[in-house]
Amino acid sequence: MASKRQPLPQIWVLHGPNLNLLGQRETDIYGREDLKSINSTLGQAGKAAGYRVVCRQSNHEGELVDWVQQAHKKAVGILLNGAAYTHTSVALRDAIAAGDCPCVEVHLSNVYKREPFRHGSFLAPVCLGVVSGLGAASYTAALHGLLSHLSRYDDT
Ligand code: DQA
Repeated sequence: MASKRQPLPQIWVLHGPNLNLLGQRETDIYGREDLKSINSTLGQAGKAAGYRVVCRQSNHEGELVDWVQQAHKKAVGILLNGAAYTHTSVALRDAIAAGDCPCVEVHLSNVYKREPFRHGSFLAPVCLGVVSGLGAASYTAALHGLLSHLSRYDDT
């Protein structure tokens, strides 16, 4: 008799506006690695830890809000690079705060070294933590932090 496999728990990785241009856009700030490569690294690291990593990118605030709402129902954790919406979006903050799914805010660049308008985040106060300034490695560091949090608070 075939055994029914349990679906892997999901981690959603949500990338905000202009991150589809990674690898071509301001490479001195954001590096040469593109989004496909970042997503593939996260997928492999997640799989090795027993999670399915689902990656999405949108240039639209409302779509990101929809995905955060869906993640609260379907995922056990979120990595979110809200990009410019980090500094402007009350809607995204409210979506994160609307559920229990832990969310880590991610930035490739060190936003605190940059223009003052990037120093504020509407998201950080409702996130588990923030990783900023490590380039593509910000995402892997954030994933490891999230996995460590999930293993500590796993109540199954
Ligand atoms: C960013 C930093 C934001 O300030 C900027 O608007 C981005 C990318 C980063 O990953 O460093 O688009 O989130």
